[in-house]
Amino acid sequence: MTTRLTVHAASGAYDVVIGVGALSLHTAGWPDMQGRRVLVVADQNVMEHHVSPVVAVLETSGATVQTVALVATEQDKRMSAVESIWDAALRAGLDRHSLMVAIGGGLTGDVVGFAAATYLRGIDVVQVPTTLLAMADASVGGKTGINVPLPERSTLGKNLAGAFWPPRLVLIDPMTLATLPRRDVACGLAECIKHGILADRSLLEVIRASTPLLLEADPEAVERVVTKAVAVKINVVDRDERETGERMLLNLGHTFAHAIEPLSELDLRHGEAVSVGLMAAYHCSVELGLVAQSEAASIASLLETVTLPIALSKPVSIDALIDAMRFDKKATAGVLRLILPTEASAVVRDDIPEGLVRSAWESVMPAMG
Ligand SMILES: NC(=O)c1ccc[n+]([C@@H]2O[C@H](COP(=O)([O-])OP(=O)(O)OC[C@H]3O[C@@H](n4cnc5c(N)ncnc54)[C@H](O)[C@@H]3O)[C@@H](O)[C@H]2O)c1
Repeated sequence: MTTRLTVHAASGAYDVVIGVGALSLHTAGWPDMQGRRVLVVADQNVMEHHVSPVVAVLETSGATVQTVALVATEQDKRMSAVESIWDAALRAGLDRHSLMVAIGGGLTGDVVGFAAATYLRGIDVVQVPTTLLAMADASVGGKTGINVPLPERSTLGKNLAGAFWPPRLVLIDPMTLATLPRRDVACGLAECIKHGILADRSLLEVIRASTPLLLEADPEAVERVVTKAVAVKINVVDRDERETGERMLLNLGHTFAHAIEPLSELDLRHGEAVSVGLMAAYHCSVELGLVAQSEAASIASLLETVTLPIALSKPVSIDALIDAMRFDKKATAGVLRLILPTEASAVVRDDIPEGLVRSAWESVMPAMG
């Protein structure tokens, strides 16, 4: 049994197919593969377990398939990774009728999506997410991108180059999470909780009620949560694919998160940085009277229950964090744009005084002594 949700975005429609065993299904919604050349780009950590079912389906459908591995770290999520995919595509003889398939987490999907968007000015891409985060969020919506070195700093700016490049198909098989470390499963729950805050309180209840099953990547529990989280994402993308308005809300917590994620001393995964970022955003909302303290506390307790951090593990310079926030994509002419939670959803605010941002960072610094 699979669930098929359809994205009706301005640039066209595509399906998101979710189901246990979906990777091995010929009927999962692949476009006509007869005579097509395919480059499968897979995260090296999923190469052994999750690539062969996809290759088998493609080859028996008449495609010629080449496979290459990608190193999935934020340090490697750069232009050089895109160039190596172009190189593999040229060697494999990919033409405008060809297809790239991204198998991996959000990082792989972003890099391969960008390579597909730019190779021969754009060829088809299919997203096969293998992390909870990528299933629930990154694989749907067509955002692709890479990190870019910041001028006169030693850190990378998150996703500062990229393209909107919707996939032809998103194929989600919860069984692929069987090999995902529990820490990364928890990271995916950060984006699911974010979707719940934005548009579906019942999603928060499902996560609360099935946390142990979810942390063990139980396929049925994962399928339930992913289906709900993807539905939230699709609703937003259908109305605002290019992020001119409502889609900005999906960045809830992310302006804070992007400032701490690149700091190697903190060793934070994207989902963990989002978790801390959500708490910083809640601090602002409580101070501004947008949400009650009890609501912020309830979200903090849910994040902790799913084993996510709600504060930094060591103190870092707040001046440096505020400086980094000005490079966020959502900043306009250096003015910070924050997405802040409300009781029912979230709002975009450009008018948050620096003093409040500073106190939000203080609120997620580790307790001293
Ligand atoms: N395009 C978007 O809309 C969007 C949205 C959210 C996040 N993102 C991006 O996604 C990235 C984060 O995604 P992520 O959390 O999936 O990270 P990731 O892709 O880095 O994967 C996390 C880790 O899990 C490993 N892995 C992946 N699948 C596995 C599996 N099934 N078994 C074992 N190991 C596996 C990877 O090698 C990696 O070490 C960030 O770069 C972020 O910017 C993009």
